Amino acid sequence: MTTEEIFRNIDADTPLRLAEVVQLLVAEGSLLRLLYEKADTVRRECMGNDVFLRGIIEISNHCRNDCLYCGIRRSRAQERYRIPDEEILGVCRKLPASGVTTVVLQGGEDEYFSRERIGQLVERIHRETTLAVTLSLGERDAKTYRFWRSQGMDRYFMRFETSHGNLFKTAHPDSTLAQRLQCLTVLHDMGVQTGSGFLIGLPGETIEDLAADILFCSRLELDMIGVGPFIPHPGTPYSCVKNPFDLEIVFKAVAVLRLLNKRCHIPATTAFDAVAPGSRLRLLQQGANVFMPNATPPAYRGHYELYPGKPGVDLSLEESVSGLQQQLTAQGRHFGIGPGEATRLRDKGK
Ligand code: 5AD
Repeated sequence: MTTEEIFRNIDADTPLRLAEVVQLLVAEGSLLRLLYEKADTVRRECMGNDVFLRGIIEISNHCRNDCLYCGIRRSRAQERYRIPDEEILGVCRKLPASGVTTVVLQGGEDEYFSRERIGQLVERIHRETTLAVTLSLGERDAKTYRFWRSQGMDRYFMRFETSHGNLFKTAHPDSTLAQRLQCLTVLHDMGVQTGSGFLIGLPGETIEDLAADILFCSRLELDMIGVGPFIPHPGTPYSCVKNPFDLEIVFKAVAVLRLLNKRCHIPATTAFDAVAPGSRLRLLQQGANVFMPNATPPAYRGHYELYPGKPGVDLSLEESVSGLQQQLTAQGRHFGIGPGEATRLRDKGK
């Protein structure tokens, strides 16, 4: 099949086969330019020119899990922190002034941030600010998710990391792919706007595995999709394993995800900037429509090191937002007003 034929199938919402996704992932030269242009067009036509800002607060680097790639894994000796509730709320109150319309509370799987504590935080954020609340706190039981929902949680984000059963098992000794997918199903069925995604380039991953992750992810009916390159962290068992792909593949993956998930929110994630500075802006021109400035208070930032080279550790939220604003305005883009709800819910008139 030619690339033009694949694009025609995409226009007609005809599901792609694995070989066709691989074909897009290996595109080069003029075909690659076509792929990026198409992703930008679909983004503009289906999601408009708004770039939504989701301020992320990394509330805890304690984690009960020992994932082999992750810099905050349980067995790594490092300084641990938890941000006090009042400090989290103080940050939230200041976010709207910078154009941020959603706060994302993210952290390791840390029982200190219990069902009750998080529930109370969500309720207070809603009472005291105009922010939509996304939680990204890993695998919890259905009762907990239900309570958070009842307290006003709008969205939940948790990557499935890889749809390849063996790769998942090797990298995540404390969980299973089935368990994680079950959490996502519970959240989705509860009416929570649900996001997921995967790592690109886990050790041993092939281009077919990546294509399979893209297809798998696109079948989950997600509201948000966040992906990023695997970056070896020196303090982990994967310190010396290399990402098997070259960098361009991660840009291609985002473009293909946009083509297969036309109305999904797709963030330009931080890990891209760690491997190629400035690439988050490039992603916003090749399919992405969400930017996530770091809102973690500076004193904690250096300790939330999922991977090395995280950008913006010394930039204030205001600095990173105003820098982006200038670049976006030059391209006729602007920050989204309002919470930037999932289009799945908007379409249903909810
Ligand atoms: N490289 C890139 N991303 C990582 N994450 C964790 N460790 C790494 C790493 N070494 C990602 C995981 C997780 C998200 C919060 O951070 O995909 O879901």
